[in-house]
Amino acid sequence: MNIAIVTGASSGIGREFVRQIAFRESSIDAIWVIARRRERLEKLAKRLPIPVKVLAYDLTNTESLTSLRYILHAEKPRVRIVVNAAGFGKFGSYKDIAIQDQVDMMRLNMEALVRLTQTVLPFMPRGARIINMASMAAFQPLPYFGLYAATKAFVLSYSRALHEELKERCVAVTAVCPGFVNTEFIGVAQRSQQPTACTHYKPLYEARDVVRRALADSRHRRDISVYGLNTNMKRCLAKITPNPIIMAAWQWLRKH
Ligand SMILES: NC(=O)c1ccc[n+]([C@@H]2O[C@H](COP(=O)([O-])OP(=O)(O)OC[C@H]3O[C@@H](n4cnc5c(N)ncnc54)[C@H](OP(=O)(O)O)[C@@H]3O)[C@@H](O)[C@H]2O)c1
Repeated sequence: MNIAIVTGASSGIGREFVRQIAFRESSIDAIWVIARRRERLEKLAKRLPIPVKVLAYDLTNTESLTSLRYILHAEKPRVRIVVNAAGFGKFGSYKDIAIQDQVDMMRLNMEALVRLTQTVLPFMPRGARIINMASMAAFQPLPYFGLYAATKAFVLSYSRALHEELKERCVAVTAVCPGFVNTEFIGVAQRSQQPTACTHYKPLYEARDVVRRALADSRHRRDISVYGLNTNMKRCLAKITPNPIIMAAWQWLRKH
């Protein structure tokens, strides 16, 4: 059986990946969806045209990955697509974000992504694809969003290196780097927000557009997917502008 595995499937970008894969990727027979909120996953499953396996996992808990490994070994599916979309950020100064939130952010955005990828790779045939959610935040350091940006810089760098390493196995890795997207992400990021944090979220893209572009880039086996003129311009600017200038521009932008 050919399957896709999508994390962060209960909301936003991950949920949109599930929908678009289910309706548009004809090689996929079933989707395994992962997030903590089981009821959301079950509701989503009812609306899809192909079978769905609901895995209500907290990915910061390594036992979740052990359980996934066990099910993979028992069922031996061919995993044609993996989407690592589970992730969160917190706006605020280093001293305002609770240390547990900081640790969980690193565990989910980086460690869980690596562990899940390593767990699934033995089940990925030639031609398979991995899609990792990085962010525009990966292109430069971002004060008051610093730890999140650092985790996404990790995802971008790791994904691009893995893309090269996996060429010999014909498995493509695409790092998706959107600007702000209209999901629950911003609400979660603001929850601990102090006056120092971000108040500017424009332009705000729609998940369906970011995901459509990401799936197309992944099909073309590109190592990076950047949707939108504004985000592409910021990516170019970050390449040619010294970091102190980019950070000063962000400091102004996040308040206006
Ligand atoms: N929205 C943006 O502006 C934006 C921009 C660039 C990049 N991104 C990245 O895109 C990805 C998806 O974000 P989104 O915008 O779709 O945000 P979202 O709507 O808040 O979705 C986040 C998803 O992650 C899951 N998740 C959170 N903690 C988890 C945990 N401990 N274990 C398992 N699953 C967990 C959530 O499900 P449960 O709560 O049910 O567990 C949810 O399905 C993230 O990696 C984010 O960093 C977002």
